[in-house]
Amino acid sequence: MEKKLVIACDHAGNEMKEAIIAHLTQAGYDVTDFGCDGTASVNYPDYAHLVCNALQEQKAALGILVCGTGIGMSMAANKHRGIRAALCENEFSTEMTRRHNDANVICLGARVLTVEKALALVDIFVATEYEGGRHDARVAMLNALDEAK
Ligand code: RB5
Repeated sequence: MEKKLVIACDHAGNEMKEAIIAHLTQAGYDVTDFGCDGTASVNYPDYAHLVCNALQEQKAALGILVCGTGIGMSMAANKHRGIRAALCENEFSTEMTRRHNDANVICLGARVLTVEKALALVDIFVATEYEGGRHDARVAMLNALDEAK
């Protein structure tokens, strides 16, 4: 289970998504690609939904979403029950959102980050464990907000 990942993008994120899949596959991860498959204009909420559904169905533990800024994907993903999506642009935030927030989706901006930086952030995201402990109550509070919807 820990080697299974799910990924999707919109048209702005396609090239970066392909680079991430190649990188993670090379590293031994089983990456399920939910599209999109090219650069024709699509709507990012549709693709966030596919990845979030797969996580809700426990087909993987972690997901990756790429759009132009990463913002639309993060907004869409966080509308889903049990999803804690983090827009990440640097190494520190990426590590901390796994350690403290137990983030299960990383959102990346293909018009913000270089591919090299995105790969570095993805490597940190998939390798970093949630710390638990004092963070459990806070993550439980985040999850409880799903019930308030
Ligand atoms: C697409 O032009 C762009 O709006 C989208 O990729 C994303 O940046 C939205 O948040």
